[in-house]
Amino acid sequence: MVEQFDVVDLIKTKRDRGSLSTAQLGWLVDAYTRGYVADEQMSAMTMAIFLNGMSRDEIRDLTMAMIASGERLDFSGLSKRTTDKHSTGGVGDKITLPLAPLVASFGVAVPQLSGRGLGHTGGTLDKLESIPGWRANLTNDEFMAQLESVGAVISAAGSGLAPADGKLYALRDITGTVEAIPLIASSIMSKKIAEGTGALLLDVKFGSGAFMQDPARARELAETMVALGQDAGVAIRALLTNMNVPLGRAIGNANEVRESVEVLAGGGPADVVELTVALAREMLELAGVPDADVEAALGDGRAMDAWRAMIAAQGGDPDAPLPIARESETVRADRAGVVVAMPALPFGIAAWRLGAGRARKQDPVQHAAGIDLHVKPGDAVAAGDPLFTLSADEPERFARALEALAGAYRVGAPGDPVDDGGPLIAARIP
Ligand code: URA
Repeated sequence: MVEQFDVVDLIKTKRDRGSLSTAQLGWLVDAYTRGYVADEQMSAMTMAIFLNGMSRDEIRDLTMAMIASGERLDFSGLSKRTTDKHSTGGVGDKITLPLAPLVASFGVAVPQLSGRGLGHTGGTLDKLESIPGWRANLTNDEFMAQLESVGAVISAAGSGLAPADGKLYALRDITGTVEAIPLIASSIMSKKIAEGTGALLLDVKFGSGAFMQDPARARELAETMVALGQDAGVAIRALLTNMNVPLGRAIGNANEVRESVEVLAGGGPADVVELTVALAREMLELAGVPDADVEAALGDGRAMDAWRAMIAAQGGDPDAPLPIARESETVRADRAGVVVAMPALPFGIAAWRLGAGRARKQDPVQHAAGIDLHVKPGDAVAAGDPLFTLSADEPERFARALEALAGAYRVGAPGDPVDDGGPLIAARIP
C-alpha cells in the first residue's frame, strides 16, 4: 500500500503552527489505528497539538476521522427519540443514575454508554455494579431491545465505537497530553456521535473536583464540544456546573446508589435533586418534549418504576440489600461553629484511597468503600457532632484517606465566610 502522506511532514506542520487538512487528518488517524504511524510519532503530534492548538475545522476533521475508525450505532429503527447526556465527571456525581430512568419515564429513550472510574472521579458502571446481579455488558441487540422496552439503558461502551480514541487516549495518558481541549473534545464527541444519539446534553464541570478546574477553560471545552455536535447534526446543549463541593452527601459506589434511589423516591439532597431536574428538563427539551413536569415524575413513582425496570432488565435485583463496608470511622467537629469549607478534590482522593476508585485500569473497586457527609458548607455544628464517616473493608486504608483530608475541611466561627462553591449551574451553552 502506498501511503498518502509522510507523517514527519505532518508533525512538522503542526510543530510550526500550521494547519492540517481534512485528508491529512483522516489519513493520520487511520494510519495510527492500523499501526503504520508509531506511538512515538503520534506522541510528538499530540504534544504539538497540546502546545499549538487546533482550528475548529481541524477539531471537526479529527473527530470525524476518529468516528470513521469504528462502527456507528443506528437508532433509526426505534419507535422513540433518543437523548443522552455526558458529564465530564466529578466527586459524588451520581446524576446519571436517577436521570436516565427519570427521562425515560417520559417515553424518550436514553442510551447511556458509560465508563469506569479512574483516579478521583467515580465511574457510573462501578456504582451500578454494587447492585447484586447487575451486568454492564450488553450485546447491541440487548441494548436496542431494552431501549425499546424500558427506555433507559446504562451499559459499558464496547470497543467498537471510535477505537482510534481508545488507542490515542492511552497514549495521551502516558505522555502528558490529556489536558488539550481539541483532544478532549474530539475524544468525548467521537464516542457520543458514533453512538448515534439524536440529542445530547453535556454537563461540563469546573472547580476543585473537576477534570477542568478553571471555569474559563471548562467553558472553552463546552463551546468546542457544542460546535462539534452542531456540525454533526446533533441537537446539543451544555451546562457549566460547579464541582467545588462534593455533589450530594455520598461519595463512593453503593452509597451513591442508595442516594440516587432516595432521589427517585422523591427525597435526596437538594443539590442532587436540583441538578437531576435541570438536566432532565434540558434533555427532554432537546428531544422535543418541552415543559415536562419532571418533579412530578420523581414524586409519584414513575421515575422509580423506570429505575426498577432498568436495573431488572440488566439482571440486577432492585430490592437486594447493597453491600456495607466492614469498617467505618466517623470524623467529628472539634469545636462548635459553622462548616466553612469542604472542597471536592480532597474528598474524592480520600474516597479513592478508601477503595472506592482504582489506580490502574485493571484494579477492582470496593463497592462499599466511600464517604458519607453528615454536613455541607454553611451547616451549624456543635462540638462532637459527626462531620463525615469513612467506610472501607480494610481498616489500614483510613490513615491515608485522612491524610488527604487534613486541613481540607474547616469548622469556623459563626459569621466566617462560607466557601459553598457558588451556584450549582453557572451557564448554559448555547
Ligand atoms: N474523557 C474522555 O473520554 N476523553 C478525554 O480526553 C477526557 C475525558
